[in-house]
Amino acid sequence: MSYFDIQDITVSFGGVKALNNVSFSVDQGEIFTIIGPNGAGKSTLFNVISRIYEPSSGEIHFNNQNISKKKAHQIAGLGIARTFQNLELFENATVLQNLLLGRHIYRKSNLLNELFFTPKVKKTELEHRLKVEEVIDFLDLQHYRDTIISGLPYGVRKKCRASTSTLHKPKTTAS
Ligand SMILES: Nc1ncnc2c1ncn2[C@@H]1O[C@H](COP(=O)(O)OP(=O)(O)OP(=O)(O)O)[C@@H](O)[C@H]1O
Ligand SMILES: [Mg+2]
Repeated sequence: MSYFDIQDITVSFGGVKALNNVSFSVDQGEIFTIIGPNGAGKSTLFNVISRIYEPSSGEIHFNNQNISKKKAHQIAGLGIARTFQNLELFENATVLQNLLLGRHIYRKSNLLNELFFTPKVKKTELEHRLKVEEVIDFLDLQHYRDTIISGLPYGVRKKCRASTSTLHKPKTTAS
């Protein structure tokens, strides 16, 4: 079995079969692309993988586990990240703040510790910030670090969205 396996996935919306017995496999480290015309079912496929939709039949396997019945937050916890066609960024926050949100899954402290900004919270905050700065440098976003998202060109916003997903433990990223 491959690292990521889609087996005979079918998704129907009433009479419309958006996906009909779709199967493919992706090996670890492989870059795999889904292409197709408008309405072919690309977004539906990613929505099934990230559990926005439930398949009517078929199975999904990741890293030797059947993840077909897992919930959206469990899928995220496994390190499967995605971007959205319509970006879904926080328009009134800066690039840096949006990227930091990509690390939310690793924030384990409670409200009280956060309120008092304990040394442990401070240390973790610095670690998150370092990860984000690495991605900002890698994607040449330094110029936009403190700029509010709304008003930025689409290309920069798309880069920012992809970075947010990548910051969330990159094993599988899809758009
Ligand atoms: N929530 C939904 N309810 C009903 N039909 C849907 C829904 N989502 C998708 N569809 C239908 O499923 C089919 C596949 O749509 P999907 O959005 O997955 O295509 P796509 O390949 O992503 O297209 P595009 O290139 O335009 O983004 C289309 O016929 C679409 O109308
Ligand atoms: Mg689409």
